[in-house]
Amino acid sequence: MTVLGIETSCDETSAAVVRDGRVCSNVISSQYVHQKYGGVVPELASRAHQRLITQVVQEALDAADCQKGELDAVAATFGPGLIGALLVGLNFGKALAYGLGIPFVGVNHMEGHLYSVMLHDSAPEYPFVALIVSGGHTMLVHVEGPFRHLVLGQTRDDAAGEAFDKVAKMLGLGYPGGPRIDALAARGNPRAIQFPRSFLDPQSLDFSFSGIKTAVLYHLRDNGVPEQESALADLCASFQQSVVDVLVRKTILAATGAAVKDISVAGGVSANSGLRNALGKACGEQGLRLFMPRMEYCMDNGGMIAYVGWMKRMQDIRSPLDLTAVAGLELA
Ligand code: KG4
Ligand code: ZN
Repeated sequence: MTVLGIETSCDETSAAVVRDGRVCSNVISSQYVHQKYGGVVPELASRAHQRLITQVVQEALDAADCQKGELDAVAATFGPGLIGALLVGLNFGKALAYGLGIPFVGVNHMEGHLYSVMLHDSAPEYPFVALIVSGGHTMLVHVEGPFRHLVLGQTRDDAAGEAFDKVAKMLGLGYPGGPRIDALAARGNPRAIQFPRSFLDPQSLDFSFSGIKTAVLYHLRDNGVPEQESALADLCASFQQSVVDVLVRKTILAATGAAVKDISVAGGVSANSGLRNALGKACGEQGLRLFMPRMEYCMDNGGMIAYVGWMKRMQDIRSPLDLTAVAGLELA
């Protein structure tokens, strides 16, 4: 079973080929056009996807040594994401499947992140608890079995990645800010500045990151943006630690509450070294097993979409060709 996967929900144009559950190619083209605007400009993203999609898909096929005629299905993200951006990959995928006379599968981007952890030699066993942390979402999910999910909690305001990006913008670090804060934080003291941790109700599995972001804003208003690199690193490390503390504590709470043995973490922010280290330590202390995607599958990528498409085809699931893009698609 060979499946082509297409991902265009935000600012990565990506395509991949999965054959019998293994990724054979994963081509990701990141759009740098947004950098000078300090965030993704939706219209520019759609246009860039349109410019890149044919080439990216062809490269994915070539890298997998796969002819179009060898494909058994085409999968594409249909939400959540930017509507114009989603439409490019979705329509391309549907047209290709129709032209080849093979099934089309619409994939929920969040399912892509959720199962990206399976693209590894060792994978969690069901049931497990997944922490999904990206630029648009922060959620804890109880995964009972393939496509059997229960959302345990999610952010009430900013997503974790959004908080990283907004703080980076305040610090003049550019977009996307997560990786830059991560790199600076590695050289800083996480206890230098005490930023608040918002745990909400002690038993709540929901998140709120706008308070931490505002605390950084007030700190910068009162003290200015640090000029010295070491002070900037301390600030980044302190901010990152406050986000990581909340994510780790709630993930462990969710896992113990659901009595699972395995935890996974996925999405762009799962690339964060502070989060990976702290979750690893906490899981070790609690006797839980932690599973993280390989770096290339943390950020948006076609590999995870092709993989979920493959999982769905193995269950004989296909989507109608009149499937539309859904910007606010929920994780069912
Ligand atoms: O999953 P993703 O590629 O796109 C969405 O679905 O949103 O996640 C992108 C987010 C951005 O907010 C980016 O700043 C964040 O992931 N990110 C990081 C790191 N790498 C990417 N945040 C913290 N540390 C990182 N190393
Ligand atoms: Zn994503």
